[in-house]
Amino acid sequence: MLELAPDGFEEIDGSDWLELAAYADGACEERIRAAFTGVSVTPVDESWADRWREFHRPVRVGGLWIGPSWEQAPSGEDVVVVDPGRAFGTGAHQSTRACIELLAELERGALLDAGCGSGVVAVAALRLGFQPVVAVDLDPVAVEVARETATRNGVHLDVREADVLRDALPPADVVVANIDLGAVEALLARRPARTLVSSGYLVGRRPCANGWNVVRHLELEGWAAHVHAAVPDPARSGPRLGTRRNAH
Ligand SMILES: C[S@@+](CC[C@H](N)C(=O)[O-])C[C@H]1O[C@@H](n2cnc3c(N)ncnc32)[C@H](O)[C@@H]1O
Repeated sequence: MLELAPDGFEEIDGSDWLELAAYADGACEERIRAAFTGVSVTPVDESWADRWREFHRPVRVGGLWIGPSWEQAPSGEDVVVVDPGRAFGTGAHQSTRACIELLAELERGALLDAGCGSGVVAVAALRLGFQPVVAVDLDPVAVEVARETATRNGVHLDVREADVLRDALPPADVVVANIDLGAVEALLARRPARTLVSSGYLVGRRPCANGWNVVRHLELEGWAAHVHAAVPDPARSGPRLGTRRNAH
């Protein structure tokens, strides 16, 4: 839907159904019809071009104001401006909010945003005091959008195109990954940091990985998020315990 209706769409979850609604002109309607069955159209008046903006309301997360550029950001507050567009992440989605809430509780340090989408979490992390922050996505469009988000917010963000499950990762104290359960588990297996914040899956699911403990979990409107702490690997760190006997 992001590709078909880049100006934004609404997602409504039912018990066993999902409705996606977009304010669409003729070309957009054609694209949606070509991609989906079960499309219905409700005519709206001429003000639709502005009304889709009503979907995108600012949110307060982790002490930050996150909202679109047409909303008046409050002065004197830490602000992240992000417009809906071609990459996931206006800040309003439950999984994004949960990640930012959990980051706000953590000790600051170097951070990797694995699967950065629009870059909203990476920019929020910079606002929270994480430094340096590297944002990575395998989608070149997301990389471009994340760079635009950083510029719009006047922050320096190192954005790279890479697959976080295969490519070399920059060193980080904290990794945040709002992708999906399988990707989070594969990323945990790579042990990319001592702390990893994950989301992108529903309540009741929890990533499993050897060598990690879940130290915190958060639920937001049906979405789950976790903080994982790496169990220290005695082979890699800590005092070396051994005995040496004198040979006499
Ligand atoms: C749900 S969006 C999250 C966007 C943003 N971080 C947020 O929380 O709002 C997931 C993003 O992860 C990216 N992604 C998925 N698998 C990936 C992988 N293996 N390596 C890098 N990025 C990946 C997708 O392209 C998408 O932009």
